[in-house]
Amino acid sequence: MTIIKSEVLPLFTDDDLVKVRQAVRAWMIEQEFSLVTQTKMVTASSELGRNMVVYGGGGCARLECLNDFDRRGIRVIFEDQGPGIADISQALTDGFTTGDGLGLGLGLGGAKRLVNDFEIWSEPGHGTRVTITMWK
Ligand SMILES: Nc1ncnc2c1ncn2[C@@H]1O[C@H](COP(=O)(O)OP(=O)(O)OP(=O)(O)O)[C@@H](O)[C@H]1O
Ligand SMILES: [Mg+2]
Repeated sequence: MTIIKSEVLPLFTDDDLVKVRQAVRAWMIEQEFSLVTQTKMVTASSELGRNMVVYGGGGCARLECLNDFDRRGIRVIFEDQGPGIADISQALTDGFTTGDGLGLGLGLGGAKRLVNDFEIWSEPGHGTRVTITMWK
């Protein structure tokens, strides 16, 4: 698998999140993903980016365009050095939230269902990394 291009964007504020959403949309359009698939990837990115801002203290989003034999992919890696997640399967469960009561606890599980590949790594005290990929 080859990484054709990549770009790292800071992600600390709501404005940064807007820019990450726009960049993911632009990269998906450039690779001619369907509108529905674009929207799934942007929505998943938005949820993961928001979690990073709210819970992870911010971090960065790395966008990558992939070539795997005859497939094209867009991968986005969200990485923060925040408090981490103690129980990942609990965090992925719909309805689980440690937020202020406004969140529905649907972001992580929802993002996982929207994309082709979803990987999460987290270590309490060190941070969290979530990688999502869409293939065409
Ligand atoms: N980057 C992160 N760093 C630390 N904890 C996280 C991170 N992302 C998610 N979590 C934890 O996982 C929980 C579940 O996240 P999820 O996105 O599913 O729900 P939520 O953000 O609480 O609500 P919603 O996304 O529906 O608004 C969060 O409440 C938080 O405790
Ligand atoms: Mg969330």
